[in-house]
Amino acid sequence: MRIGVLTGGGDCPGLNAVIRATVRKAERDFGSQIVGIRDGWRGVIERDTVELDVERMRGTLPKGGTILGSSRTNPALLEDGLPGTIRALKEMKIDALIVVGGDGTLGVANRVSLLGFPVVAVPKTIDNDIWGTEYTFGFNTAVQIATDAIDRLHTTAESHDRVMVVEVMGRHVGHVAVHAGLAGGAAVTLIPEYPFDIQIVCERLVRRHGRGRYASIVVVAEGAVPIPGTIELPDLGEDQWGNPRLGGIGAIVAGEIEARTGFESRATVLGHVQRGGTPTAYDRVLSTRYGIAAVDAVHDGDFGMMVALQSDQIVRVPLGEVAGRCKTVGPEMYEDVARYFFA
Ligand code: F6P
Repeated sequence: MRIGVLTGGGDCPGLNAVIRATVRKAERDFGSQIVGIRDGWRGVIERDTVELDVERMRGTLPKGGTILGSSRTNPALLEDGLPGTIRALKEMKIDALIVVGGDGTLGVANRVSLLGFPVVAVPKTIDNDIWGTEYTFGFNTAVQIATDAIDRLHTTAESHDRVMVVEVMGRHVGHVAVHAGLAGGAAVTLIPEYPFDIQIVCERLVRRHGRGRYASIVVVAEGAVPIPGTIELPDLGEDQWGNPRLGGIGAIVAGEIEARTGFESRATVLGHVQRGGTPTAYDRVLSTRYGIAAVDAVHDGDFGMMVALQSDQIVRVPLGEVAGRCKTVGPEMYEDVARYFFA
């Protein structure tokens, strides 16, 4: 079989480990050929491919990013995009396609699958917001990077009696913020799913500092939103893929805290640092399991499925159940555990 593999959407640590596992599994166990498609769906439309083999993949397991490149190209937004995608795959003599991506990429994968092309999906994103799987690879690495940064910010915050506001990724969900906030001992964590009241945040910090602590960490997901009528955020419109442009909520929160409490405050934006560099051991293992499972699904002819982690087992979930849904942070994790845990 000739199996295409593409990586779409924002990159994340572990992509190369998935590709490597597909190549090793396909070549060694089935005698199949993996064809790498460059830059996500762009490479399908433009027939931009590279033949992969075990030799080519040597040394890639710990490497961040994706050797195939990635893009947010969405064929569904192009004229003749989806039928053209299937025509291109057939012309390239690709028998089945493994799609490694987040919500946008998997939404296209589902539509290509519904049009009859054999597709298996692998869930990827540092945001960990894909429905149907307990973990996406990349999430563990991003949380570790954010936690390391918070540990460093703690020591400088304590030296200067400051509030340090740390803005982390997560425009729709707060899994990274909640996990890094808990692991790093944040006093307050603010996430998109639960609009925040800046006055309550400030009261919590005043109470905490009144108990003799003078430094606090506040973790803010980039998509966190204030309760309407409390503080105004600038409307920066949308990017070319329809995602809201986010405008530095960390700096806004730090400014409000300083103005309302008098505590000197600073903001740090971690940004794409959270997506770069080598994957953790956990993510390398999960990526490898996903890559192997995806090739197994292809050879079982079990198409239109996404491989997923449930109760530490790799299972297959119908793509149709995943597309258009989002796994958010639940109240038991946020309200009971994370929001003001150390405040
Ligand atoms: O979807 C993953 C993600 O890293 C989000 O956490 C973040 O909001 C977004 O991608 C950033 O996208 P870009 O790399 O296009 O700036």
